[in-house]
Amino acid sequence: MPRQKQTQALLIRPIKPKRDRKALVRVAKGLPEWFDHEDIDEIEEDLLGDDGFVAEWERQRVGCVTVGIPAEVPAPQRAEITWLFVERGMHGKGVGKALLAAAEAFVLQKLGEGAELMVWTLADEAEPACYASTRAFYRGQGFQDWYVDRSDLQIWKYPRLFMKKML
Ligand SMILES: CC(C)(COP(=O)(O)OP(=O)(O)OC[C@H]1O[C@@H](n2cnc3c(N)ncnc32)[C@H](O)[C@@H]1OP(=O)(O)O)[C@@H](O)C(=O)NCCC(=O)NCCS
Repeated sequence: MPRQKQTQALLIRPIKPKRDRKALVRVAKGLPEWFDHEDIDEIEEDLLGDDGFVAEWERQRVGCVTVGIPAEVPAPQRAEITWLFVERGMHGKGVGKALLAAAEAFVLQKLGEGAELMVWTLADEAEPACYASTRAFYRGQGFQDWYVDRSDLQIWKYPRLFMKKML
């Protein structure tokens, strides 16, 4: 993992699952427009299994990013952002960007130049309006729209936009 990075009051450091999970789940629960009960359960699980980084602002945990690196041969140089969220009151202050930068540096270190980082979120045509800011964030950070998956709506509930970025 890259060394921890500190700019004034913001500290980005690797997740320590046992120590951080409770506080991070609390942050996710504060974003009910984005995350329902099932999402919260998955977040709890992924916080234990995935690599990731925590953002601390004045020693409070205010967000995190988790990264999954699939072991399968077909995608040897692809990693996925599994979760990224920042406490509501801290949106727009650069925390999400700092977390994403840490995740990208981690993936580059693990997979090397030319690695792809993917993420999926809800598609433009999906109902929840709050995801417009999520798409704007990823597009602003250099992610390109890849494809829209409209299958398995009984599982995913909404069409999903897959995005990717070459590192
Ligand atoms: C998406 C999210 C992680 C971004 O984190 P953040 O700390 O608010 O974002 P930052 O302040 O670091 O970066 C904001 C950047 O995105 C852009 N951005 C953010 N919201 C935007 C919006 N609604 N419209 C246009 N641009 C937007 C900003 O312009 C800024 O780029 P700039 O610095 O080049 O101007 C955060 O808002 C969040 O937790 N949202 C809810 C959960 C979520 O959507 N998670 C992702 C899916 S799992």
